[in-house]
Amino acid sequence: MLTKQTHYYMPKKIKKIGLMTSGGDSPGMNAAIRSVVRSCTYYRIDCIGIYRGFQGMIEGDFITLDARSVSGIINKGGTILKSARSKEFRTKEGREKAYKQLIKAEIDAVVLIGGDGTFTGGMVFNKEFKFPLVGIPGTIDNDIFGTSYTLGYDTALNTVVESIDKIRDTASSHNRLFFVEVMGRDAGFIALNAGVGAGAEEILIPEEDLGLERMLQSLKRSKRSGKSSSIVVVAEGDKTGKNVFELAEYVEKNMPEYEVRVSVLGHMQRGGSPSCFDRVLASRMGVKAVELLLDNQTNLMVGINNNRIDTTNLEKAVKGHHKLNEELIRVSDIMSI
Ligand code: F6P
Repeated sequence: MLTKQTHYYMPKKIKKIGLMTSGGDSPGMNAAIRSVVRSCTYYRIDCIGIYRGFQGMIEGDFITLDARSVSGIINKGGTILKSARSKEFRTKEGREKAYKQLIKAEIDAVVLIGGDGTFTGGMVFNKEFKFPLVGIPGTIDNDIFGTSYTLGYDTALNTVVESIDKIRDTASSHNRLFFVEVMGRDAGFIALNAGVGAGAEEILIPEEDLGLERMLQSLKRSKRSGKSSSIVVVAEGDKTGKNVFELAEYVEKNMPEYEVRVSVLGHMQRGGSPSCFDRVLASRMGVKAVELLLDNQTNLMVGINNNRIDTTNLEKAVKGHHKLNEELIRVSDIMSI
């Protein structure tokens, strides 16, 4: 039975689910919104969209969503619910305001779509108010423990590979060496996977300290072996140089035989129509999130492992470390010969 106490919620029958996207947007968020909304309709419960993540929750910026209001969005990048990183939600007062808004709107549980920061906020909120929450991992970084894939990662990889393919055309025409910086915050998932996929000569990731000297030697070796142009993929969190421009400068000084250029791919990696993989994953995760809440299972993150949808405790998802695939690192070393 669901009973409201002075301050905390006790488990009750879920009749209305709130839904928000938060943190950096990622392709596939809209497909996940569609899936959550349609699952709610299927199970005959109400769904309320919360605009601008936790900030919209604090301000009570809500909208009623139904199956038809999410038509035509499965193929759209970004998020129709908008996204934000809320400073106010980091304060106890902010979270209290958010809690009151949820109660006022008679929202019984919330599905959070976002990354690390979103889940950390959700975890704190759940500890304070025992408010039922389920998380769907949406970030291009793929840096969440408990899931092999986050929403948007596959699309971002394809965007990066397509961009590097284009850079390679001009790099080889001019016999140039390109440093291509990709996103990923402190993780090297995008750099490693896109680097292997695009046939990069070197991949610099924060998880591995190659060192300036070894990188230089390796580039010299590949030049001697007959390569006239090269691509080095640099994860934005990599610490080999202070930044990609200084790294490029250092290499140009020490390899005058090369003309060096830098390309920072930036936010284009976060946009675009989601891949089929991300759309299907989003659809599966959305259904699971609603079903978990209806089953009174909360404080969990939905994930995918070995092509099976499963769950991880939200706290574990936040505190755990999603490790890079060692085998892929080895493959990338062999491929760059
Ligand atoms: O977490 C997603 C991400 O795109 C990271 O890869 C990147 O470091 C960061 O967000 C950029 O954040 P912002 O959009 O606030 O500049």
